[in-house]
Amino acid sequence: AKLHTVAKAAGKLYFGSATDNPELTNVQYISILNDSATFGQITPANSLKWDATEPARGDFNFSGGDQIVNLARANGQLLRGHNCVWHSQLPDWVSDGNFDAATLTSILQTHCSTVVGRYQGEIWDVVNEPFNDDGTMRSFVFTDTLGSSYIDIALQAAKAADPNTKLYINDFNIEGPGVKSTAMQNLVKDLKSRGIPIDGVGIQAHLIVGELPADIQQNIEAFTALGVEVAITELDIRMDLPATPDKLAQQKTDYQTVVSACNNVSECIGVTIWDFSDLVSWIPGTFPGQGAACPWDENFVKKPAYDGIVIGF
Ligand code: XIL
Repeated sequence: AKLHTVAKAAGKLYFGSATDNPELTNVQYISILNDSATFGQITPANSLKWDATEPARGDFNFSGGDQIVNLARANGQLLRGHNCVWHSQLPDWVSDGNFDAATLTSILQTHCSTVVGRYQGEIWDVVNEPFNDDGTMRSFVFTDTLGSSYIDIALQAAKAADPNTKLYINDFNIEGPGVKSTAMQNLVKDLKSRGIPIDGVGIQAHLIVGELPADIQQNIEAFTALGVEVAITELDIRMDLPATPDKLAQQKTDYQTVVSACNNVSECIGVTIWDFSDLVSWIPGTFPGQGAACPWDENFVKKPAYDGIVIGF
């Protein structure tokens, strides 16, 4: 059974994967990525971020983004654009520019409308990681200068650039109930009450084997009850290396748990893994000593986690 086919049969819009430009030269990798029965959706892991798309003010570069978007379209795969505004991978000219509020507003509007406008009719993580783990708004140049209104500005600019794009806010540690999930729910309520466009909440789901939060499905339902859809946007489930048969078996169960939580909620539209092979996963580089987080191993052999996903739908 192939993952996107199984997801579609269960009524989901897609099963997808993140990908990144340097990996596209690996022939084994690309043959799996291009299989639209396996992946019906692609997220560029880096090439649509601000540092890649507008490295200097007004100087837009879509070479990396176009490469992945063109590949996805050739394969008939949906795009999740990622992202318009985020505290990380934000170029210094934005962070350290000492712009006044009016100028920074215009910079944000121009950036969001240009990147979203280039790839029409897709899904966008417009705002990425707005919250700290305690549910307060994360401090960075946009909140420091504009307060939480930067979120309104980004969403409105994206909507104006393409009324047909689905607009998401995406974050981590909102997989289960807690203060950060509550903060996201309050943000969604506030946006909706003020008529700011918002279509969905992205739950990243960078998780740890054997340490899943309880009540993932109930938490998804708490979002969808507010009149937004949900997507699992960056699923991977890491472990302390080395991988053992026991850890891989637990990982299978954990993948199944996350997928079935989405599957059980009709407004949870799909699941995206944050790349599919341990060979290219971001985890070992960011969490030293951890890895083996993906459903395919570094030799592109399917792990038990793959079957966990299939069973989950
Ligand atoms: C990661 C990429 O996978 C890495 O290649 C890059 O070095 C750092 O960013 N949450 C997100 C993603 O929203 O954009 C991050 O992607 C992973 C965590």
